[in-house]
Amino acid sequence: KKLEMFVDELPDMPKLQGYCFKDGEPFAGNLSIGMYDTTWKFHRDLPATRVFAYGLTRETATVPGPTIQAIKGIPTYITWTNHLPSRHFLPWDPTITTAKSISGVPAVVHLHGGVQPPSSDGNSMAWFTAGFSDTGPQFSSPVYFYPNFQPPGNLWYHDHAMGLTRVNILAGLFGMYRITSPQETSLRLPSGPLFDRHLVLFDRDFRTDGSLYMNNTGCNPSIHPQWQPEYFGTVIIVNGKAWPYLRVRRRRYRFRILNASNARFFSLSFTDGTKFIHVASDSVYLPKPVQTRKFLLAPSEIGDVIVDFSESASDSVILLNDAPYPYPSGDPTDEMNGKVMKFLIARSKEKDMSHVPSTLMKYPRPQSSQVAAKRHIIMYEYESKTGDPTHLYLNAKSFTDPVTEMPREGTDEIWEVINLTDDNHPLHVHLGVVTVLGAQTLADVDKFKECMMKKNDVKACNLTEHVTRKKHGVVPHERGWKNVVKIWPGNLTRILVRFSPLDEKKFPFDPTAEPGYVYHCHILDHEDNEMMRPFKIVP
Ligand code: C2O
Ligand code: CU
Repeated sequence: KKLEMFVDELPDMPKLQGYCFKDGEPFAGNLSIGMYDTTWKFHRDLPATRVFAYGLTRETATVPGPTIQAIKGIPTYITWTNHLPSRHFLPWDPTITTAKSISGVPAVVHLHGGVQPPSSDGNSMAWFTAGFSDTGPQFSSPVYFYPNFQPPGNLWYHDHAMGLTRVNILAGLFGMYRITSPQETSLRLPSGPLFDRHLVLFDRDFRTDGSLYMNNTGCNPSIHPQWQPEYFGTVIIVNGKAWPYLRVRRRRYRFRILNASNARFFSLSFTDGTKFIHVASDSVYLPKPVQTRKFLLAPSEIGDVIVDFSESASDSVILLNDAPYPYPSGDPTDEMNGKVMKFLIARSKEKDMSHVPSTLMKYPRPQSSQVAAKRHIIMYEYESKTGDPTHLYLNAKSFTDPVTEMPREGTDEIWEVINLTDDNHPLHVHLGVVTVLGAQTLADVDKFKECMMKKNDVKACNLTEHVTRKKHGVVPHERGWKNVVKIWPGNLTRILVRFSPLDEKKFPFDPTAEPGYVYHCHILDHEDNEMMRPFKIVP
């Protein structure tokens, strides 16, 4: 039976303050957040679903988890505790490099977009089980230190356990984290809990009993009995409700839209062509607002947009999605996954004190004179004889191969990322900020790929001859600093990665410490098998 759309109201997740007040001044905050085995109602007509969820207590745990609010310059300390059972309720795969424990489900938290010391970065091997009875080789402390010294912006936290990230996030282990700063007030953007909202988008499949459905059989069962290259669900969920509705007033709203799906891209537009005014993306503000009528969000990308309902001709509008899955050459969307949520617009116009300024916040632009190194990052997909994917690698190396990327602290690097697969892979770099400089198509991808699969050497395969002069521009709303960037198939995408703080002189911690950081594809099913590599910052 099909679930009826637009019957549940869009919820707001509980908010937690990552700071406290002492004599009227904000002061470092301490939180203790648990991971619980509990249930969540995704739809009015769907029985409660078993989930793993973050919360202060089991009773208050939600999917997505609570939104953590931090203030720039005020550190937040979080003690993450694991209360998960001894076995996972979703199919994982023991044949991929995976955190394994007989004492419980391994988990570890990464603050995505956060600039934090390596020991608080949620390294995949720093996992722990219930009661810390078992810990991974990189585990050091249950208390995580988030300095929040970076610019104000949109972050999220989610599970990052080795080989289990896709199932732990699918089970519900993710939530939003925002850093605010008093300098934002003068922008006068729509603000406050009513007019400044998070929309966390993800897709899931359910059985009729309400349980989460994930295919139990891998695409290459003789190699990986459970692993699938991409998870896609037919039900589109926003803030934990399937196809919700939101009553809005006739005025401006700010929506911070996160794509928290494993693998689904969202290409978003409104039925009546209402515009999005982008003010920020993942990490930080754009220098100037940018208008679009449609925009694409890869997994883990964030669109921070202003939407003005005051001129709407009708009293309701639907947010649509038309991104094929897998992206870009997969199936087109349908009646189900082509719709996201509905906005019911009040009749009478409202006095609106918010506005959209002509300039937002300026951060240093990339400077090629500061570039300390240039690297090639090659994206490979390996296939079985039947042509099904078996695993994905960066630079033909597994996660456990020795570190090959050692950027110097405080420098910029140019990474030429060459995508030899058919999919668009969202690349995420921990600690750093990234800006896309441009992309160029490869002339004969198949020939170049054939050579690279054998030699894994761009010189021996004559890269320069394969790169065409055809340059692809970067869409204006993606020209700022980001932490996830789309890497298009058959292209060389040139990105600049900055390993220094964006608006401060130094890191308030030692970024060269163990266990270092990682970079990876944010399609979670790829990241787990094993499109992820470590990197170390050197002094
Ligand atoms: Cu959002 Cu390494 O992850
Ligand atoms: Cu990928």
